[in-house]
Order: sequence, then C-alpha cells, then structure tokens
Amino acid sequence: MCGIVGIIGTEPVAVRLLDALKRLEYRGYDSAGIATLHDGKLERRRAKGKLVALEKRLSDEPLGGTIGIGHTRWATHGKPTEKNAHPHISGGVCVVHNGIIENFKILRAELASDGYDFVTETDTEVIAHLIAREIDAGNDPQAALKASLERLEGAFALAVLFQGHDNLMIGARRGSPFAIGYGSDDQPGMFIGSDAFALAPFTNRIAYLEEGDWVVLSKDSATIYDEGGAQVNRPITTSMANALLVDKGNHRHFMAKEIHEQPEVISRTLSHYIDLGNEKVDFSSLDIDFQSLDRLSITACGTAYYAGLVAKYWIEKWGGLPVDVDVASEFRYREPLLSDNGAALFVSQSGETADTLACLAYCNEKNQKTLSIVNVQESSIARGSDAVLPTLAGPEIGVASTKAFTCQLTVLAALTIHIGRQRGVLSKEQEVELVHSLVEVPRLISEMLVEEAKIDAISQQLVHAKDVLYLGRGIHYPLALEGALKLKEISYIHAEAYAAGELKHGPIALIDENMPVVVVVPKDGLFDKTISNCQEVAARGGQIIFISDCDAKTTGCDFVSQISLPRGNEFIAPLLCAIPVQLLAYYTAVHMGTDVDQPRNLAKSVTVE
Ligand code: F6R
Repeated sequence: MCGIVGIIGTEPVAVRLLDALKRLEYRGYDSAGIATLHDGKLERRRAKGKLVALEKRLSDEPLGGTIGIGHTRWATHGKPTEKNAHPHISGGVCVVHNGIIENFKILRAELASDGYDFVTETDTEVIAHLIAREIDAGNDPQAALKASLERLEGAFALAVLFQGHDNLMIGARRGSPFAIGYGSDDQPGMFIGSDAFALAPFTNRIAYLEEGDWVVLSKDSATIYDEGGAQVNRPITTSMANALLVDKGNHRHFMAKEIHEQPEVISRTLSHYIDLGNEKVDFSSLDIDFQSLDRLSITACGTAYYAGLVAKYWIEKWGGLPVDVDVASEFRYREPLLSDNGAALFVSQSGETADTLACLAYCNEKNQKTLSIVNVQESSIARGSDAVLPTLAGPEIGVASTKAFTCQLTVLAALTIHIGRQRGVLSKEQEVELVHSLVEVPRLISEMLVEEAKIDAISQQLVHAKDVLYLGRGIHYPLALEGALKLKEISYIHAEAYAAGELKHGPIALIDENMPVVVVVPKDGLFDKTISNCQEVAARGGQIIFISDCDAKTTGCDFVSQISLPRGNEFIAPLLCAIPVQLLAYYTAVHMGTDVDQPRNLAKSVTVE
C-alpha cells in the first residue's frame, strides 16, 4: 500500500525522507517520489521501480530544502510510471496520497472543464487541482484544504505542501492511518507518516489522527482539527517502533528472520495469555461471556482468514461454540444475518485492512460484541473494537505473513481453551493438558528450524513446477491453503489447495508426474483417509511431498520426500505445520531469485478495497 512521509524542520530533508521511505518499503510499492520547498520553490524527483532508482535520481539531481514530502506508490489508478508517481503538483500545491478517491471521475471532469490540465492517470491529481482551484479563488491554504476535503469521497491519507509557505504542511486522514511525530531538541521539527515505523529514526513521540482529522504542521507545532473543523487534542504516546527493529540481523531476508523469530514471539504471546503457575489460560480482562453466546463470527482476509478457519475447528471441537468464518470482502456485501446473541471476532496483523475494518463497522452497527486479534495495537481495528487481544509478534516487515500468523493461531488456541472452560466443554484436567501442549510449541518449532536445510533441499522439487497442489483434511486444510498462498505470493508459482476429500471431485484430473502435491497430514483421526487420497495421487504419478509426524514408509505409499514434524498433542499440530509450509515457500522463492520480502504487485497492508 502507498506510504507517506513528511518532514518540516531545520535540517535538509531529502535524505531523511528517503530513509523514511525505505522504512515504508515493506508496505509494497512500484514507484516513489519526493518533493521539497527550497528557496520558495517546489521541486520534485520521482522514479519508477524501487527506491534505488529514486536514490540515483536524487544523487544526480539533489533536492535542497528543510521541508518536504515523500511517497511510495502502489498503483491503483494508472500504471506504475514516473509520470503517475507522487507527489503531484498543481500550481503551487503539491500532494502525496494513500487510498482511493472514489468520485475522482466526476471531479476530474469538473476540474478539466474549469481549465485544469490533467497530465496523469491517477485519482490523486484531482486533489492537487481541487486545492489549487481553491487557492486560485483567493482562499488561504487552510481554507483551501478544508473546502477540498469536503468534496472528496473515499478513504485516504494525504500530505500537502504550498509554494510560498515554507513553514506549513497540512495532512488529513479519512480511513487510512496517519501518525504525527513530535521532534525534540536533538531532532527538531515535526513529522508525519503512514505509520510510527517510518518516523522511528526521528522521534518516538507519536499522536495518531482520528478518522476525519486534519492537521496543520509548522516546524514546532501541530494543530489538529476534527472533521467538523473544531480544534482537538490527540494524545501523544511513546511509540515502540524502535529503529533497530527493522534490521534483518544475520538473515538474508526479513521473511527468514521472521520465520526464525517464531519461537520467541509465540512464547511472548503465550505468556500474555497463560498463567503457567496455575496451569490455566488467563483472559481475565476480557469482558465477554462466552457461555451465553450462541454464535461467534470470525472475519479476516488472506492469511489471517486461514487463522480464522483453523479457529473454527478448534473452537467448535474444544470450545463447544458454533463458529462462522468469512472472508471480509464477501462478508461486508452479503448482508449477513447476525445472531442477537452473537459476538464478532476480527483477525488482522496490520489492523488496517479496509475490508476487515468495514466488517467491524457493520458488526458494531448491528450491536454485536466486537473483539479483535491484532498485531498493531494502535490500529483502527483495535481502536474500533469492544475488546482487543494483541498478538505480540513485533513488527512484521516481510510482505508474506509468517510470525503474525502463528501468533494469531497462538491467541486463538488460548482463546479456545478459555471458551471451552467457560462453556463447560473442557474439564480442568483437559485445560491443564492443552496448556501444557501449547507451551511446548516454541521449543518444538526451534527444533524444526534446526532442520531447515532439509526443506531447502526439498524445495528444489518445486522450482521447476508450473503448478503445485496442496492437500489437507480437517484442521489441516487451512494449513494447505496457507501453504499454497505463501508459495504463490513469493515464488509466483501457481498453487492451489484442496480439502483432500475433494480431490476426486475434480482436481485429480490435474495429477501427472509433473505435478508436485504437498500433503499436510499430521497423525489424527483423519490420517488414514488422507493417506488413501495420497494413494490416489501416487497411482497417477503425482510427486508427493509429505508433511507429517508419521514416517512416510509406514504408510505403504510412494512418496517422493518427507518433511518430518515433531510429535505433539494433536491440538497444537496446526502451529507446527505452519513452519514447513512457510519454509518450503521461502526456499523455493530464494532458489527462483524472486523479491521475497516485497513480492510483485503485493502490499503489506491493504487499505483500499
Ligand atoms: C499473506 C498476507 C495477506 C494478509 C492479508 C490480511 O501472506 O500477508 O494475505 O494476511 O492481507 O492482512 P491483515 O492481517 O493485516 O489484515
């Protein structure tokens, strides 16, 4: 998703803006640009592609100035060309923007008939012209911005510079998150950015704009207004987005680092929800009576949705509560019938995913008790929910979610035990057994990571594949889905997941000796059934990669290779299976030489529909 940064201070800003943009790279982008005000004039540099291209432009043609804005663009309207890259300028107005202006066509026609020339295919250009038209009509920048905001429909964050005003920057937020950074004696100035992470090298004193807010920044002040124009205060918090956290350490990619962090972050997350001394889960601060609920609806996107699917199996079996799971982009438009006595749970790493956020708003409107599992505690989803269960995964920089997923599973597993106890489905003894199995997870994952070279070797079997099939049954079906998603997003190999029992209803037609089939099959009550499906694949020459805690040889089936899982309680198997499917995708992508941390076309946080 697009990233925005703005600095207004006393030192040259171009290099610092570039540095901040690098910290927003993880969001995904395909072009970038920076503009500054220098000697009363607006100047900009833009480049298609990665930030190195912009860096080169800046070194060939440096930008002066102590006030400036920068942008990484993830194309929505118009190709990722230099011409469409932000900032966009109209007259003396310069704009960067994240989000979508839904009524841009109407505004474009109106502005064009007023004589404003459009030189890009973007929706953003209408914002620059709208504000410029207000300035041309004699309004000051503040009034011009306010009047323009009233004309815009959609979700956005934007930052604006005004030629002739070298101590002024205006930012606005509707839908997309926006953080304001307050400088110090060491680093004077004011900062604005898509997240606190971008601003971490400059300041940790952060305030967040609320929905509809806009802010007028000078070198040493921030005056915030709400949607109605009333001046408001937003609390300044101390951000934890420490500059050091974006280091890859000894790893080649953030994704590798994040895969390896899982034992530690799962431990941290577990210690938040487990009272080990008393061998029980601890949700004492959660004000939801699960005993009286008749339904839980879980909504999320992508990997977080697969975490929700695992939770359905967990909560229905061990918690005794019926669960619906929906992809957020479907849920929001299908006018779902919600139980009068239901609760709605939202799962999101970023806490900003537009579709999930819209479902939260819908459920709040329908008087559901709302609960969210998020990794970013200051996020919009966290702030809009009645209750929040944090995942303590730390910042996830790799676009493909790994540690956030297993931390989501960790919280959901602990929540399952809590629900099971409240509903009287689990005895105290069962709680103790499940808690003990959960606290084993970090150690078991560490053991698996020691063996990663084997998965690296096996991944060579996927490198030349055009298509890969993933199979799983029951609670492991979502892990097959997650494995296929990971593979396609970072290696660009087409992968599909099927519930193993569905194989014979169609996809078996695809099987031949060129088709690798990854089967996620830890020992459980459905094991033998999945093995029968494996036989069907083997009989047709399919190349099976077998992920299991059982020895492939004992199954009598012809497997090409085995990835061994440690044997644990069946309850924790989904957490363990996550590791090999992540590593298999990771090493395949590494061998193929793709951009593992920033795969093409993808955005880390999807703040548009
Ligand atoms: C896949 C991936 C995405 C996200 C999805 C939801 O690796 O990262 O599928 O899981 O975009 O994002 P959040 O969790 O931020 O709502």
